Amino acid sequence: MAGATTAALAAEIRRAPTILVFDSGLGGLTVLDQVRRARPDARYVYAADDAAFPYGRLSESTLVERVLAVMARLLARHDPDLVVIACNTASTLVLPALRAQFSTPFVGVVPPIKPAAEATRSRLITLLATPGTVARPYTHDLIETYASACSVTLVGSPNLAAYAEAELAGRPMDDSSLAAEIAPCFVESEDGRRTDVVCLACTHYPLLLARFQRLAPWQVTWIDPAPAIARRVTQLLGPSRRDPRDDVPPGLTAFTSGIGITASLRRSLDARGVGDVAVESMPLALQ
Ligand code: DGL
Repeated sequence: MAGATTAALAAEIRRAPTILVFDSGLGGLTVLDQVRRARPDARYVYAADDAAFPYGRLSESTLVERVLAVMARLLARHDPDLVVIACNTASTLVLPALRAQFSTPFVGVVPPIKPAAEATRSRLITLLATPGTVARPYTHDLIETYASACSVTLVGSPNLAAYAEAELAGRPMDDSSLAAEIAPCFVESEDGRRTDVVCLACTHYPLLLARFQRLAPWQVTWIDPAPAIARRVTQLLGPSRRDPRDDVPPGLTAFTSGIGITASLRRSLDARGVGDVAVESMPLALQ
């Protein structure tokens, strides 16, 4: 997780904070779940830049430009106290530019290499991510810093984020397509050691976790960084201030950059106990 810089933020914010959770699509909902659990009193804006999905296939310069443009609009419109970039593909590239351009604190989601290196016994770790994330120098630096004693297999899946979107849209991909995407994650060394930890380094992938577990050729520990992100948010904003007797539900606004909220996003938010959703469509075509 890339940290935000303002440690005194909690003291500054007296009212319930507004937290913007941002992703290219529905993957950020896996992070939103954890953050909402930690701060049920906050007001949330969920922003899906669906017009530019998938981010994993954009060139680095296009992605930086795109996220800066979308973020400028979101910050002007919603004035959040904190932004969670719930996307590894964006966080591993765009965080320095975001922090240079805007004063709002950003918490990024980056590949959970450190906890993976701490959890492995076989020292064979796999990083399952988008092609963009596995190519980033940031990711390679993380591996060198935290997992130099391990052998790390990088699997850049061109399809899994779209498969996760399809799953939530009620059009799940068949088992063999999913199994083919995760097959390269499972490595056996000549001395008989096997991959025992797989990092879910794309926020879409936890949406498919139950199926991954069922289709895996052997059992591994799957690491989802979302709980650590929620802890970081609480560290910055402080603990929940909701009085347990207060049953007023916190608000949530969903934003999409495409033609509007899809039935799948509405269902997914509903399923996550976010019944009260105001939807804004801010069309912003990919240049
Ligand atoms: N959810 C995003 C991530 O964590 C990526 C999906 C995409 O390629 O747009 O990397």
